[in-house]
Amino acid sequence: MTHPTGPRLALPEGFLMGASTSAHQVEGNNVGSDWWAVENRPGSFVAERSGDAADSFHRWPEDMDLLSELGFNAYRFSIEWARIEPERGHVSRAAVAHYRAMVRGALDRGLTPVVTLHHFTSPKWFSALGGWASPEAPALFAGYAEVAAEILAAGVRHVATINEPNMIALMHTMIRRLGSGREAEGAEGGEEAGAVAFDAGTVEPDADVTRSLIRAHRAAYDVLKAADPGLQVGWTVANQVYQPEPGAAEAARAHAHPREDVFLEAAREDDWIGVQAYTLHRIGPDGPLPVEPGVETTLTGWEFYPEALGLAIRHTVAVVGPHVPVLVTENGIATDDDERRIAYTTGALASLAAALRDGIDVRGYLHWSALDNYEWGSYRPTFGLIAVDPRTFARTPKPSARWLGALARAAHIPD
Ligand code: NOJ
Repeated sequence: MTHPTGPRLALPEGFLMGASTSAHQVEGNNVGSDWWAVENRPGSFVAERSGDAADSFHRWPEDMDLLSELGFNAYRFSIEWARIEPERGHVSRAAVAHYRAMVRGALDRGLTPVVTLHHFTSPKWFSALGGWASPEAPALFAGYAEVAAEILAAGVRHVATINEPNMIALMHTMIRRLGSGREAEGAEGGEEAGAVAFDAGTVEPDADVTRSLIRAHRAAYDVLKAADPGLQVGWTVANQVYQPEPGAAEAARAHAHPREDVFLEAAREDDWIGVQAYTLHRIGPDGPLPVEPGVETTLTGWEFYPEALGLAIRHTVAVVGPHVPVLVTENGIATDDDERRIAYTTGALASLAAALRDGIDVRGYLHWSALDNYEWGSYRPTFGLIAVDPRTFARTPKPSARWLGALARAAHIPD
C-alpha cells in the first residue's frame, strides 16, 4: 500500500492530534437515554439499534491504549448525562467515578482529554419534560454541568458543552415531523445505509430550541468557569459549508445564518470553538442543490470533498473572530475503502495546513472517529480508524490509523 507523500508542515507546539467518539455511539446499553428509547420503540424509524455498540463502557482502557500506542496525544469523548443523572436530581456516584477514571486513564496514557458534556443524547426524564424545548432546559443543563465539573476536576482543560447544537435544533423539527407521520420529508443520503441523516436544506431549525441551547450553553459556561476558571469551555458546531454557485452568494448567506452562524456567534466570548466538517452543500439561487451525478460520494451519501475542512475553519473564524482559538473536533469519512480515508484525510489536513500558514489559530485536529461505531441508526457507515468486531468487540487498527498516528507522533501534517 502506498501512502501519500509530499510536503509536510510542522505542527505548532502543543497541537492536539487525536480522535473522537461519543458515549452513545461507542459505550453500549445506554438504557437511560432518550435515543435508546427511540431505537427500541416498536415500529421505530431507526433501522438498527445501538445495543452493545463497541462496548467501550468496559473497553475504554483498551481504546485509549491503542490511541496512545498509535502515536496520538489527544482523545475526545463524551460523558453521558443519562448515566450521571439517571433520575432528575439523583446523581450516580458510580457514574461520576467511572468518568473520572476515564479522565485519569487518558492523562496516564499521554492523551489530552477533550470532554463533551452533551453529544445528542439526553436522559429520558429530560426529554419527557420537553427536552431542549422545555423552559427548564437551561437550568437543568447547568445543574448537570455542576456535577460534570467534579469529573473535569480530575484533570480536564478542554470541555465542550453541547455537540452540534445546530443539528439538535434541526432534529427537533425533524422528530416533530416524524411524530406527525411525515417520515419521508427532510431525510437525505444515508438511507441506503439506514442511518438517520437530515437535509439541512429543507428542515428549519426550531427557534425555541435554538434559544434554549444558547442559554444552556451560557449557563453551563458560567457554572464551569466558577468551578475552575482554568477550564477552556467551548462548544462544537456542525459546519455545513454552504458553497454558493455563481450568483447565489446571498442565498448561501441567508441559508447559513439560522442553521449555523447563530451558534457560531454565541461562541464569540467563549474560550474556543469546535469545527466539525465533512462535506459541503452547494447552494443555487433557489436553495440547496443535490450532489451532481457522477461525483464521488461516501457511505453517508455526502460529496467527497476534503477541502471542506479548510473552508469550514475559515468560515468559522470569519463569524467568531480571529481571537477565538479553533479546535477541529470532528472530521472524517464513512467508507469501506481505507485508502479513500487516507486520501480524504490527506486533503483535509492540507487545507488545515493552509489555514495555519495563513495565521489562523488552530489548536488541534481530532479525527472522527477513533472506532467504527453507531451512526445514529446504523452501523453501516464506518467512520473508524479502528475496526471493531461486532461479536467479539476485538479492535483492529486500520492502515489509516497507523498513517495518522505516525503523523501525530512526528508532529507534522501534509501541506
Ligand atoms: C457529527 C456527530 O457529532 C457525530 O455524532 C456523527 O457520528 C458524525 N458527525 C458523523 O455523521
